[in-house]
Amino acid sequence: MQYAENILETIGNTPLVKLNKLTKDLPCLVLAKYETFNPGNSVKDRMAVKMIEDAEAQGLLKPGGTIIEGTSGNTGMGLALAAIVKGYKCIFVLSDKQSKEKMDILRAVGAEVIVCPTDVEPTDPRSYYSVSKRLGEETPNSWYVNQYDNLSNTKAHYESTGPEIWKQTGGKITNFVVGVGTGGTISGVGKYLKEQNPDIKIWGIDTYGSVFKKYHETGIFDENEIYPYVTEGIGEDILPKNVNFDIIDGFEKVTDKDAAVYTQLLAKEEGMFLGNSAGAAIKGLLQLKDHFTKDDVVVVLFHDHGSRYVGKMFNNEWMKKMGYID
Ligand SMILES: Cc1ncc(COP(=O)(O)O)c(C=O)c1O
Repeated sequence: MQYAENILETIGNTPLVKLNKLTKDLPCLVLAKYETFNPGNSVKDRMAVKMIEDAEAQGLLKPGGTIIEGTSGNTGMGLALAAIVKGYKCIFVLSDKQSKEKMDILRAVGAEVIVCPTDVEPTDPRSYYSVSKRLGEETPNSWYVNQYDNLSNTKAHYESTGPEIWKQTGGKITNFVVGVGTGGTISGVGKYLKEQNPDIKIWGIDTYGSVFKKYHETGIFDENEIYPYVTEGIGEDILPKNVNFDIIDGFEKVTDKDAAVYTQLLAKEEGMFLGNSAGAAIKGLLQLKDHFTKDDVVVVLFHDHGSRYVGKMFNNEWMKKMGYID
């Protein structure tokens, strides 16, 4: 018989899938690291389990404890699955711009969900950064995960996602393209790949309203760059410790409209029913086309599943209301 001991053992070893239609004008091979095959339907399962295991080993998370996190949904899903298997409780703090599906899904796997306003400063006591931090301090026998600054996040991708991509491409990968939020995925995968071959280029996809691109190019943290945006999962108004700017060769910004339209196109043209950051990632990759030649093997990582966006990017009424389609 061949079976996993529990659902956590099925995390990782996701497929690499060729893109065919959206990339037809590019000279190179484009492959998607297709992370929705993880049991929580996102790449975040990998780092969620790693952060929990490291916290257990350091004595920060004790039996029967409560896991507290500010999460846009996917990390929460991974943490919740691990909490069920390992016997912990979960409280998650989300900002109100996150889709209702994400909130309902977290409740479905037993988590308590607290919703905070998006349009406030990170230091405001109502912000989801502040509320999750305060709950971590006030709740007995709790552990505040802090995926932004918890370096086990990067480590998970250094130990699993990076080696998988290297092995699946037979070491032929030349460019890696991925959306950046906490920075764990790009920093862990990027560090591993550059250690194998320092010539591999690492590209971060950013959004308008986020500080990453300008900070990377100028070293200036420009508060004027910050405004509320629609794209989910990528971009930040802070500099998380997990973003290792040194291993990133460049950032490319994608508009909210393009990210939404390309999320639909991935489903319609490639049969890839994916989340909003996948739309941003593929559009950013297309914008970078002048950097690619016929010998390149470009891997783009798609973070999460389309089911979490049926009320937004896959709802044409919403798309019209936003002015993204006629
Ligand atoms: C849908 C989605 N895309 C992209 C990202 C960014 O990944 P990372 O936090 O590893 O930079 C996240 C992270 O929250 C996400 O949930």
